[in-house]
Amino acid sequence: MTSISQESNSTTDQPQDSKCVRVCQNRTCRKQGAASVLAAFQASLVPEVTVTASACLGQCGNGPMVLVLPDLVWYSGVRPNEVPLVVEQHLLMGQRVTQMLYHRFHP
Ligand code: FES
Repeated sequence: MTSISQESNSTTDQPQDSKCVRVCQNRTCRKQGAASVLAAFQASLVPEVTVTASACLGQCGNGPMVLVLPDLVWYSGVRPNEVPLVVEQHLLMGQRVTQMLYHRFHP
């Protein structure tokens, strides 16, 4: 978690209210379809939102894992067809998608 925060803070050229969507592309998440999830986010152009491929987020087996910063909201088992819901509800309206939250960090 610490290294993720440090990475987030290093992007000083972004406005403070901008978000970053990190989609794990490490081995386990890729086996679970993370490449399609990343592509779906990249196809959804949202102003002031950056979408990046991430190294392992440390939650292997629960993927594909998606982390939204700086909100520190984790989504697990994300499917490509669920991405529009995250985009519309979380990224555009600022409301977490409760039913997709990662239970370990959002009990
Ligand atoms: S491979 Fe995605 S969290 Fe580890």
